[in-house]
Amino acid sequence: MQDNAYLKCIDPQCGLEYPIKSTNVQCEKGHLLDVIYKNNPSVKLQEVFYKRRNSQGNIFDESGVWRFRELLNFCQIDTENIEECSKYLVSLDGAEGRQSKPYHMSKAAKFIGILNDNLWLQPEGYNPSGSFKDNGMATAVTHAKLIGAKKIVCASTGNTSASAGMFAANEGIECNVYIPAGQIAPGKLSQAYQFGAQIVEVDGNFDDALKQSLDDVQKNDGYTVNSINPFRIEGQKTIPIRALEYLNWESPDWIVYPGGALGNTTSCGKALMELYDWGWIKKIPRIAVVNSVGASTLADLYNGKFEEEELRWNKGRPNTELITRYYDHLDKEGILPKTKATAIQIGRPTNILKGLRALEFTNGVVTTVSDSEMLDGMSVVGLNGFDCEMASGATVVGIKKLINEDIIKKDDVVVGILTGRQKDAMLPVDYHMNPENKFAKPPKN
Ligand code: F0G
Repeated sequence: MQDNAYLKCIDPQCGLEYPIKSTNVQCEKGHLLDVIYKNNPSVKLQEVFYKRRNSQGNIFDESGVWRFRELLNFCQIDTENIEECSKYLVSLDGAEGRQSKPYHMSKAAKFIGILNDNLWLQPEGYNPSGSFKDNGMATAVTHAKLIGAKKIVCASTGNTSASAGMFAANEGIECNVYIPAGQIAPGKLSQAYQFGAQIVEVDGNFDDALKQSLDDVQKNDGYTVNSINPFRIEGQKTIPIRALEYLNWESPDWIVYPGGALGNTTSCGKALMELYDWGWIKKIPRIAVVNSVGASTLADLYNGKFEEEELRWNKGRPNTELITRYYDHLDKEGILPKTKATAIQIGRPTNILKGLRALEFTNGVVTTVSDSEMLDGMSVVGLNGFDCEMASGATVVGIKKLINEDIIKKDDVVVGILTGRQKDAMLPVDYHMNPENKFAKPPKN
């Protein structure tokens, strides 16, 4: 194995480095880690990636993740050697990320108040397990295999557990999933059971479940596949990369995501930092993160809603004490994250510092939307013939809100990521039963 990729602590004052086969998700001082590549991929690869779309049966070319394998080559393999790829790269038969690309959705554009040509929505729900997670799980489980792990472990609001369960079943390894009891969509829970994962019900919320799952890994030697794992982030970089490829590598003005644990924000930021550094893109799109009103840690801290300080990455010197005080405040007041969009019901986003770094690099913004707004967003996506879940509806109404506030300009080009597919069958039914809802079409007797 060559020595072109390694792990590095994100804190510029610390900067500890680890070999690629390390399973640390944090440095010994407790800071998050990045996968760093020493090489500068040539722009000529854009043509190679494009050609691979006509894959002629090679699953690593079919895959929407591994098609871009030169940009994620932490296994440091010969990327043209398919036998070597098969030995290392984990794939759901090339299906992860394969279906995802940005689409125009005219009814969503009309609702938002933006020109149809300027709005692109990219459904990630058509991944095999039904959410964007498969992009990052492909790379995390590849790393798990590289180090010989026999069991993967995660905490989840549902989609991570579905994806981890599916990959584990395919690879013939064990999978433990920690879920906040009673707080995940039934369709997601049933997927984890279906794929043979061992469910561990936690009496608490996602933040408690994550803590328990990380303890489990410490004590019982599993491999963490939550987005705290830097290898998850690598695969999720392909979400904006696919969008950029589709737009002929011409940057949009904005890329918009719902915000939970901030793995997506992180991976989008990292992809943009790398592509800009390599000269693949000339303009840096701005990232907009959309929190739920009921789970708004990032929005509160970023927008100065707590102690009137606007939390920033601050070139690698963020005020982490402000975050600690905010969490203490939540605990003291007994404030728990609460939203019907359970996918993003998260109070302590693990990747907050990497998220802040992404926002600083892209001059990003953070906003919040209510549950009823998210349901409208979800429903209008459906009217275009696309399926998405409530948390993904946040992207649509987040864009609408930012346009109304004149933060996103009317002629800006916007890519919004629809993170997951509907897995709570009764949500649309309940929505349409109530004629007061904006897009409701109640049944006739
Ligand atoms: N949208 C959906 C559908 C999700 O499932 C999640 C996170 C997010 C958005 C938030 O993304 O964490 O990258 O900011 N779901 C995780 C899970 C936490 O366990 O399935 P993020």
